[in-house]
Amino acid sequence: MSKIIVEGGTRLEGEVQIDGAKNAVLPIVASSLLATEGVSKFYNVPNLSDVKIISELLESLGVKVSYNKDEKTLEVDATGKLKTEADFEFVSKMRASFLVMAPLLAREKSTKVSMPGGCAIGSRPIEQHLKGFELLGAEIIQDAGYVEAKAENGLQGTTIFFDFPSVGATQNVLMASCLSKGTTILENAAQEPEINDMIKFLRKMGAKISGEKTSRLVIEGVEKLVGAEHTIMPDRVEAATYMVAAAATKGNVLVKGARYEDNIALVAKMREMGITVEIVSDNDIRVTNDNDYLKPIDVKTLPHPGFLTDMQSIIMVLTLLAKGVSTVTETVFENRFMHVEELKRMNAKIRIEGRSSIIEGPNTLEGTRVKATDLRAGAALIIAGLIAHGKTTIRNIYHIDRGYVDIESKFNNLGAKIERVEE
Ligand code: EPZ
Repeated sequence: MSKIIVEGGTRLEGEVQIDGAKNAVLPIVASSLLATEGVSKFYNVPNLSDVKIISELLESLGVKVSYNKDEKTLEVDATGKLKTEADFEFVSKMRASFLVMAPLLAREKSTKVSMPGGCAIGSRPIEQHLKGFELLGAEIIQDAGYVEAKAENGLQGTTIFFDFPSVGATQNVLMASCLSKGTTILENAAQEPEINDMIKFLRKMGAKISGEKTSRLVIEGVEKLVGAEHTIMPDRVEAATYMVAAAATKGNVLVKGARYEDNIALVAKMREMGITVEIVSDNDIRVTNDNDYLKPIDVKTLPHPGFLTDMQSIIMVLTLLAKGVSTVTETVFENRFMHVEELKRMNAKIRIEGRSSIIEGPNTLEGTRVKATDLRAGAALIIAGLIAHGKTTIRNIYHIDRGYVDIESKFNNLGAKIERVEE
């Protein structure tokens, strides 16, 4: 097991390059299973443990996958006959594995995938995915931890209303509807930028989709889809991590690959706190902060274009530095405050009331031993370590490695003192 040790008190300065988005590449690679002809090639693919897991899952289905770490490219050849069963081994390691269900159902007419179950941030049900498949004409059988879906005569387009704009359900049902007969309309669909990136790729494969960036997607089914090339969008949560770290350390950092369009809510909240956020270009944001104290804010997580739940723990660290009372309310996942207990170990004054965390600032943090409770919480603890007195030791960092490329070296190039220690 490795751990990360952060020495507090450094100021971040310089430039950092953001990698490709984990939450775009995983669903997009899953969607390349829809191609019965041609090879797909992806650029800007981050070297992450989750990308390795989805590659191994695809290989277990009979797909040829090759990743070039130096060029950050991934090739997927799914043209042969595929196995249709995704085992517990993969789905239990990574929930996004469930996204192979739609392409397997749509092209092979039947599939069996292990149920993802809950995780550290909540129970995470899948009924919106299954409702979508059922309305498209699939028969769904749930038994002994597996979901089986069958559509011997193919899927038939229809109108589907999501009770909640679920990112995963929108992606899964969107993929299935691309090969359904006739027109499918997805109402109350999720509008996250990662979904738009998937739509761009599906169109390159030959899919007919309109309504991107809205809650109503209209899909005209096609007979077949072919492999295509696509550059993965930059990771907006990785960008947010360095933007917030720059502000928290009273630094000056150019975040290359941070796109204003994908980070509108975060930029607004940072500016409300008194931080200078300069939109340098479509792809670059500079964050500077020389305030002794920040202003308190109220943040509420919501589906896009609201404040992203994945940035909740990260912005919470910034509110610790505000003079006054801030609130952070989580409405997307029911159990996403696990980092609060860890921050409290560092002397943070936070109390939880229902779905809100009340933060009394300003706080002086003390380095101690903490653990990453999930991926984004781990990143938040690194930022907390940067502003704490003394050393912070973070354990369970395998969570962090799921979503951050070279996190210590990227931070250290900006002047941080972070070390990874193998135990
Ligand atoms: C995606 O998860 C991301 N994962 C998550 O990032 C992200 O936090 C989330 O979207 C919200 O933006 C990937 O893209 C791989 P949802 P997903 O379906 O698709 C409930 C990270 O750290 N729900 O929009 O699973 C669900 O329980 C991860 O990178 C149902 O009730 O998110 C949750 O409360 C964590 N029924 C809410 O909706 C369903 O059928 C949002 O889930 C589906 C979802």
